[in-house]
Amino acid sequence: DKKITIAIDGFSSTGKSTLAKQLAKHLGYVYVDTGAMYRAVTYYAMQKGYIDDTHFDKTALIKDLPNINLRFSFNSELGFAEMYLNGENVEKVIRTLEVSNKVSRVAEVSEVRAKLVEQQQEMGADKGVVMDGRDIGTVVFPNAELKLYMTASAITRAQRRYDELIAKGDTVTYEQVLKNVEERDRIDSSREDSPLVKADDAIAIDNSKLTIQEQFDKVLRLVADVC
Ligand code: C5P
Repeated sequence: DKKITIAIDGFSSTGKSTLAKQLAKHLGYVYVDTGAMYRAVTYYAMQKGYIDDTHFDKTALIKDLPNINLRFSFNSELGFAEMYLNGENVEKVIRTLEVSNKVSRVAEVSEVRAKLVEQQQEMGADKGVVMDGRDIGTVVFPNAELKLYMTASAITRAQRRYDELIAKGDTVTYEQVLKNVEERDRIDSSREDSPLVKADDAIAIDNSKLTIQEQFDKVLRLVADVC
């Protein structure tokens, strides 16, 4: 079987990473969670005081970009790669609502995108990769052999994200999570640089009513079609 590139895009909490992890494991491919990279840059900007709830010093962040080193390191116990920022494991802290509430503003910055896209293209250069994000099929790998565009209702997605955060011990309300999901959807799909759009040749999958297994089976058939 030839190795291919699988690009998975969609709004937040549409189950992209669940599907991507399953596929990577099954196919023996590398999984790259590009959202984790934008989250890590956001966390860095928060630590440095470049961004908070009300202000964002883009110029300072842009100037500091060369000092941000991102690396994925596979954790065999967990079965997936964890995000490291300048040598520190930030896998957990980048998933908090504090980061989620700022990440879309950081992801609007073209200089940030250029840096991360370049690194993503390097990581996928040898194919055999499943990458999820917002612009993978449109910008990062426009020639990907298989492009998926995931959708699900905002309510379904907020409930999923809420359950996830609660399971991790976070204290958030459903309303806070729904508000964050809707706000990120709005910014991610209306920004100027690389907005979230379905690539013309992407296959749309609405998983509001699919179980994880049904979705996986469906996608494996699509993979078999192109391999
Ligand atoms: O996938 P996840 O929800 O973790 O992504 C967090 C945020 O990072 C998104 O809401 C979006 O603003 C940004 N992002 C992006 N392009 C990507 C991946 C994520 O702009 N390829």
